[in-house]
Amino acid sequence: MINSAWKKEYAKKLTTTDSAVKAIKSGDTLYIHSNAAAPQILIDAMVKRAPQLQDVKILHILTLGKADYAKKEYADSFRVHALFIGPNVREAVNEGRADYVPIFLSEIPNLFTSGQVPIDVCLIQVSPPDAHGYCSYGVAVDCTIAARKQAKITIAEVNKQMPRTLGRSFVHISRLDHIIEVDHPLPELTPELPTAVEEAIGKSVATLVENEATIQLGIGAIPNAVLKYLTNKKDLGVHSEMLSDNIIDLIEQGIITNDAKTILPGKVAVSFVMGTKRLYDFVDNNPLIEFQTSDFINDPFIICQNRKMTAINSALQVDITGQVVSDSIGSYLYSGVGGQVDFIRGASRSKGGKAIIAMPSTAKNDSISRIVPSLASGCGVVTSRADVHYIVTEYGIAQLYGKTLKERMLALINIAHPKFRDSLIKECRSFQWLS
Ligand code: COA
Repeated sequence: MINSAWKKEYAKKLTTTDSAVKAIKSGDTLYIHSNAAAPQILIDAMVKRAPQLQDVKILHILTLGKADYAKKEYADSFRVHALFIGPNVREAVNEGRADYVPIFLSEIPNLFTSGQVPIDVCLIQVSPPDAHGYCSYGVAVDCTIAARKQAKITIAEVNKQMPRTLGRSFVHISRLDHIIEVDHPLPELTPELPTAVEEAIGKSVATLVENEATIQLGIGAIPNAVLKYLTNKKDLGVHSEMLSDNIIDLIEQGIITNDAKTILPGKVAVSFVMGTKRLYDFVDNNPLIEFQTSDFINDPFIICQNRKMTAINSALQVDITGQVVSDSIGSYLYSGVGGQVDFIRGASRSKGGKAIIAMPSTAKNDSISRIVPSLASGCGVVTSRADVHYIVTEYGIAQLYGKTLKERMLALINIAHPKFRDSLIKECRSFQWLS
């Protein structure tokens, strides 16, 4: 029999938006639900309270939608500690009004559960409760469960349009302190059509993906382009921190069956999805899609148990020895470490696994080579040269693992844009290890 006693509790906790955010106090540390699940109405109401608040520390990974709390005029009230830098906080981070925490996505939950970063208030956006009083974290499970569990107070935006996703994605209303009800669409991320360069990279990367591989696709344009070229594969599986729209076609065409997976066989394993309403509808109540937390999905020791784990991520710059920069352009902070290293390490250790970094050979209309003799001053290495395996550009594939620096240099110059190859050779001549 269904116990509906929770309904009374729910009604008691239901409040107005303005009153819900009164629970936030000066000096608090706040965690905001991530990606497309960032609770926009609560965020707006919190920002409205800026004149009454001081020194509120705000933590989150990537969030879609507005992040007005990062605006200059609210600097005395809020300070962002970005665990991944999205477009909405990039300016604040680079102007020194917000901070960046480089960290593996797999380890963020432990920041909270270990007590290293205590959370006072957690703002989440969830689906309406089911018959048993459980709300779903919807499109983003990732690090939010850990933050919510540690938080002294949880304020929830219960959105009629938040999909009810399955897996480890539920929170009972007894765990929520203040609830507001809303009905608004989630922010969408429409995949752009791949450019000719991205198409070429997609085709090359696809040649590395074997039948029965379990794939992970990182963030950015390239991983999306790759999906287009996987239509001749058989029995692929998915174990990935994120999913975008393009995955749906491969599932519907029977290319992704998840039959050959070793971890969560038969399921697409994921921690968040970001895309259009088509994707959000697809994951709604869909038992094929298993949402799990980042400390599970991104744990290299879990990832490596999948046979033929194939990780596909992107980069901004790679030096001639194979050091991979993905979170910064020189000293300009661009994104984050995310799950790149988690998946590179997991895929490297998997039986038949492949760790792939794919990027265009140039940036800014071919005016800059992404393959460089030495890394730009101020940038940060995300994937070390000992971790790197395959680098792919539109000019081909460089297999670097187990290779000497000299062999790496030749392999990378081979896939650099032809217009930069001579200057790369010239500049590399100054390296002592080459003489
Ligand atoms: N020098 C100067 N500018 C550069 C550059 C370089 N070496 N490399 C890229 N850029 C510019 C591009 O021209 C582009 O500028 P624009 O927006 O004005 O066109 C911008 O930087 C972004 O580059 P792009 O290659 O288009 O980025 P992307 O959206 O494909 O994402 C990463 C690529 C590396 C930023 C993305 O994969 C990422 O954030 N990775 C983080 C770590 C990770 O992989 N985690 C796993 C998934 S969370």
